Amino acid sequence: FFRHFSSSSSRFGNIKNVTIIGTGLMGAGIAQVAASTGHHVVMVDQTDDILSKSKANIEKSLQRVVKKKYADNPKAGETFIAEVMSRLTTKTDAAAAVKNTDLVIEAIVENLEVKKKLFSSLDKAAPKHTIFTSNTSSIPIKDIAVATQRQDRFGGLHFFNPVPVMKLLEVIRIPATSDETFNTLLAFGKAMDKSTVNCKDTPGFIVNRLLVPYMMEAVRMVERGEASPQDVDTAMKLGAGYPMGPFELTDYVGLDTCKFIIDGWHKKYPDNPLFMPSPLLDKLVSEGKLGNKTGEGFYKHKK
Ligand code: NAI
Repeated sequence: FFRHFSSSSSRFGNIKNVTIIGTGLMGAGIAQVAASTGHHVVMVDQTDDILSKSKANIEKSLQRVVKKKYADNPKAGETFIAEVMSRLTTKTDAAAAVKNTDLVIEAIVENLEVKKKLFSSLDKAAPKHTIFTSNTSSIPIKDIAVATQRQDRFGGLHFFNPVPVMKLLEVIRIPATSDETFNTLLAFGKAMDKSTVNCKDTPGFIVNRLLVPYMMEAVRMVERGEASPQDVDTAMKLGAGYPMGPFELTDYVGLDTCKFIIDGWHKKYPDNPLFMPSPLLDKLVSEGKLGNKTGEGFYKHKK
């Protein structure tokens, strides 16, 4: 067993060319970290305009990284940025982009049909060895993978926002994912300088499965008039040692995103009390109070 493992392990982690589809909040962060750790990255999005904005955001973010990391050697910092940017290319044609790629990371809109359509066309265009992954937060990976003929080379890579800052990467396998694919994904995560955890394809994987019901329970507590959002946040920060309270976190993540996730799970598992929707959350979302991004959620924010 050990001999087998060590001889095949030398093939693991051989991901050099990565294609990232969808370069919004998550995709741009993933592209930045992948290129910073030496990978060649093709970024794909719907228009050149979106792509050039994403690239500009990455450069700005790299400048922030360099300010800290190369504080005493700004010249080396500039060289680092130039090198990272030179490993990033852009394309609007996803099928053309995957022709020479080892790994696809999809981070487009959270919609099953759109994701399936994309992967079905990529399946025909990508080389046989190419591994496909989705960064989805709430869609079962296996429901996306059925659009392809390569379910053994399909998995999930679930990153956290902001990707350059958050150390965790959830690596998800579906029943069809081969050991070789899974080990390659774990090795890729390490090569991206992330700490990986092994997950099955269950709702919310590990982090959101625990975090979303916790955030919803905090909202229900306020709904019942038992405590104010401020007091709940203070309590959890000072009493449980959490860096953010559940309401600060909900505002940061976006109330619409929390609602979207909980509504999806409720629909699928109507009997699970942890997945019950909340009238207060629904009301705030209908009023457009989505959190930090709109200037108001449970709190008022400076825009
Ligand atoms: P976003 O809206 O910031 O970015 C999505 C990007 O995909 C946009 O630039 C859009 O133009 C592009 N896009 C949409 N359809 C496309 C297509 N057919 N082909 C190419 N590009 C397309 O969304 P965000 O927040 O980055 O989320 C993306 C994915 O990541 C979703 O699946 C979401 O569940 C997941 N995710 C989001 C997290 C978050 O904190 N926002 C955390 C972890 C995962």
